[in-house]
Amino acid sequence: MNTLVAASVLSADFSRLGDEIRALEATDIIHLDLMDGHYVPNLSFGYPLVQCIRNLSDKPLDAHLMVTNPDAYVEDLAAIGVQYMSFHAETVHHPHRMIQQIQAHGIKAGLALNPGTPVCSISALLADLDFVLVMSVNPGYSAQKFITSAIDKIKELSSLRTEMGLQFQIEVDGGVKGDNASTLRDAGAEILVSASYIFASKSYTNAINTLKGI
Ligand code: DX5
Ligand code: ZN
Repeated sequence: MNTLVAASVLSADFSRLGDEIRALEATDIIHLDLMDGHYVPNLSFGYPLVQCIRNLSDKPLDAHLMVTNPDAYVEDLAAIGVQYMSFHAETVHHPHRMIQQIQAHGIKAGLALNPGTPVCSISALLADLDFVLVMSVNPGYSAQKFITSAIDKIKELSSLRTEMGLQFQIEVDGGVKGDNASTLRDAGAEILVSASYIFASKSYTNAINTLKGI
């Protein structure tokens, strides 16, 4: 399977948002980190900015919900037009219902695993998921240090997927850079999220191609 890159706009210069989005022509997906200041100790942006990005780009949008009540966001984000949506299992009482709620809009549903959350905690949901988001930092900020235990988690998910005959995609988020991308691809990650590495690069296209190994 080809590696997809999901550029996270959290590290973009929002004062030049149009230029920044246009410079992401090589990305496959645009990753949107929605934070509420409760589930994570940071605030990011909400619907108006997501709508601006939707207007600026035809790329698939990937909403990563770092909020305590992700079920309240599904309808509005579906109306704007996102293609992927992930939430953290700890934030809902009924993750299976939330997956169905997302998929009812034709949106791919993903569960995000914090560094402290084991793969076995979501094994009963793997057959229903379109993707699993392995967090390789604690959620909340860009430019944090990559947590290496994520690599074993990706390998575990990849093996389980084969054993169980499933199709979910594996996405990794946090500290993804040119120097660890090949390890993550080899472990089984198909979607590499990256913010600071891409936006600190002179050429976003070269950075994205490096992540893909081309
Ligand atoms: C962290 C976010 C990430 C973040 C990644 O909470 O989920 O998507 O933007 O930033 P980098 O790639 O700089 O670690
Ligand atoms: Zn994210």
